[in-house]
Amino acid sequence: MTNRVFPPGFTFGVATSSYQIEGAHDEGGRGPSIWDVFCRQPGKVIRGENGDVACDHYHRWPEDIGLLRALNVSAYRFSIAWPRILPTGFETQPNAAGLDWYDRFVDALLAAGITPWATLYHWDLPQPLQEMGGWPDRRIVDHFVRYADIVSKRLGDRVGHWITHNEPWCAAILGYQSGEHAPGHQDWPEALAAAHHILLSHGRAVPVIRANSPGAKVGITLNLTPGYPASGSAADRDATRHFDGFFNRWFLDPCYGRPYPADMVADYQRLGRLPTGEIPFEKPGDIEAMGAETDFLGINYYSRAILRSDTLPEADNAPRLIPEPPPVARTDMGWEIYPEGLRDLLLRVSRDYPVKDLVITENGAAWPEGPDAEGRVRDDRRRAYLHAHLGACLDAIASGAPLSGYFGWSLMDNFEWAYGYDKRFGLVHVDYETQRRTLKDSALWYAEVARAGALLGIAG
Ligand code: FCB
Repeated sequence: MTNRVFPPGFTFGVATSSYQIEGAHDEGGRGPSIWDVFCRQPGKVIRGENGDVACDHYHRWPEDIGLLRALNVSAYRFSIAWPRILPTGFETQPNAAGLDWYDRFVDALLAAGITPWATLYHWDLPQPLQEMGGWPDRRIVDHFVRYADIVSKRLGDRVGHWITHNEPWCAAILGYQSGEHAPGHQDWPEALAAAHHILLSHGRAVPVIRANSPGAKVGITLNLTPGYPASGSAADRDATRHFDGFFNRWFLDPCYGRPYPADMVADYQRLGRLPTGEIPFEKPGDIEAMGAETDFLGINYYSRAILRSDTLPEADNAPRLIPEPPPVARTDMGWEIYPEGLRDLLLRVSRDYPVKDLVITENGAAWPEGPDAEGRVRDDRRRAYLHAHLGACLDAIASGAPLSGYFGWSLMDNFEWAYGYDKRFGLVHVDYETQRRTLKDSALWYAEVARAGALLGIAG
């Protein structure tokens, strides 16, 4: 049995993002983001919900810092809303009220003994920059670097942990290919160009942030999903290779200075997603820039994928070795609960890439529990989920993965993108009518884990 104690100095945190919690969409000089616009288009978000108010964190942040203290976390990962800093994206002078807000917030975190981890882009692009062309347009790279420069100049003396981007796969693929996220486009060439410019803007911003924030740790957060073939058939193994290329390697490889994976370039060309010949959006020097050396890799892990060929008829394929997970093995998102995937992923990334330091920047589960008659939120399934995944972290550490921190998603229930307020990922329950916050049982348990630096049991 592996040691159930985390290494000394292991970071226990929780995470959120600006659009999902802040609200105050038209206060403090904030301009509209692509999510404000997307939410107003019929049929994009459940019941037409939006982040106008969300958790009203913009006003209630002192109380929310109190929640962080109650959770005993040593770190808090939040994101900065680009349209609070540059309301249209094009201003030459930043919006003072926006910078001031984050300035005060960072000071208050530090005063509470909590280390700020700031994400620069968690999907709320200023709408006018989308109208310019958004992430598929190469000019966005300079806009992002300028924004990163402004923010890191102002906060860089106090923020020592920076994440350039959250989940480029989601921003590019959900935003520009499947259309499930803002801006809701459905166009493969746009999506691949968007991914390229996101990664390039990351690489270009890294040295700028370092210059403004001496000694800071700078990284990027990728959402990685390990794929497992449903059977040993060649067709299922090939589907797994393709999935891994699409989801993981297309983003990991350039972050480590490697060209786009050749098998995926060939697949995309065959599928008409890229023209044959040169990759149209890639310019000389891009790969080197994208591979700017980072201090850590942030990983968001929620589930695994089981791959079954969709080209081979079922009757001709080998029998499944991994069955489809039943509903009880899934969260309210329908995502399979598979903690072993987190261990496998951490070990795989540390084996295949020259990572110095890994941090789980998100992990968590949605279930709908709310307060009972006594006001207690008995979310045993979430507590079990966190317990199992923290255990997987310990297993990976014991096998040599350089994992130094874990952030639970999320501090509190919040606006879950296209799912609106339906999906509750919080360790803290939010009553959206009253904005009342209640620590769930999982939060009380996590607070003890963070205090002890050890994986406590979940009995009782
Ligand atoms: C991740 C996002 C985060 C939240 C969780 C559930 O993809 O980064 O904002 O939506 O999923």
